[in-house]
Amino acid sequence: MPDESPTPEITVTLQVNGAQSQVTCDVRTTLLDLLRERLRLTGAKKGCNRGECGACTVHLDGRRVNACLVLAASADGREVTTVEGLATDGELHPVQRAFIEADAFQCGFCTPGQIMSAVCCIREGHTGSNEEIREWMSGNICRCSAYPQIAAAVEAAAAATASDAAPVSASDEAPAGASGRTPASTDGRPPAPTPATVTASATGKRR
Ligand code: FES
Ligand code: FES
Repeated sequence: MPDESPTPEITVTLQVNGAQSQVTCDVRTTLLDLLRERLRLTGAKKGCNRGECGACTVHLDGRRVNACLVLAASADGREVTTVEGLATDGELHPVQRAFIEADAFQCGFCTPGQIMSAVCCIREGHTGSNEEIREWMSGNICRCSAYPQIAAAVEAAAAATASDAAPVSASDEAPAGASGRTPASTDGRPPAPTPATVTASATGKRR
C-alpha cells in the first residue's frame, strides 16, 4: 500500500538581496524553486535543472552556486544574492554594464547566470587571461555561443573593478557551474535582441 503520509515541510529563513524572507516549503524544494516560485525572483533561470548549464547561478554567502542543486533547507540562515540584487541605488553593477557594452548575449537566457558567475570569477581573481576567464566561466553554458563577447565583458569588468579582486584560497576554487567542462558551442543562432531585451537580460527581468 502506498505511503500517503504528507511530505514534511520546513520553514526556511534567509536573507535574499538584503531582505529577510521566511518561507515554509516542502523539504525537497530547491533554492532555485524557492527563489523563482515562492519569492518571484525569476532572474535565476531553470535551464537543465541538474547542474550542467549554470543558468541558475546565484551567490550563497558570497560564493557562486548552482541554485538547482542546493536544497532550500540548506540555505537556511544564509545570504543569497540574485541578479536582481546586484545593482545598487539604481546603478547597474560594473559586470552588468560590461555585458551590455560588450553585447555579451543574444537570447539572454544564460545571461543572469553568466553575470553572477562573472562577479565571483573576478572576485576570485581568475581573470589573468582570456583562457583563464573561459576556464573559470566554463560551468556557464551559452547556447547562443556568445563566448567571445562574454569573455571580453568579464575582462573589461575585471579591469574596471581591479581594486575589488582578491585571490581566494584553494578550497574556494570550485567553478560555480560545477560541471568543470569546456562549454559546448552551437550553430543555432537566435535573432538579435531588441534594445528592451538587452537591459532585461543583464538585470534578469526576463522569465
Ligand atoms: S539549471 Fe541549474 S545548472 Fe542548469
Ligand atoms: S545568450 Fe547565452 S544562451 Fe542565449
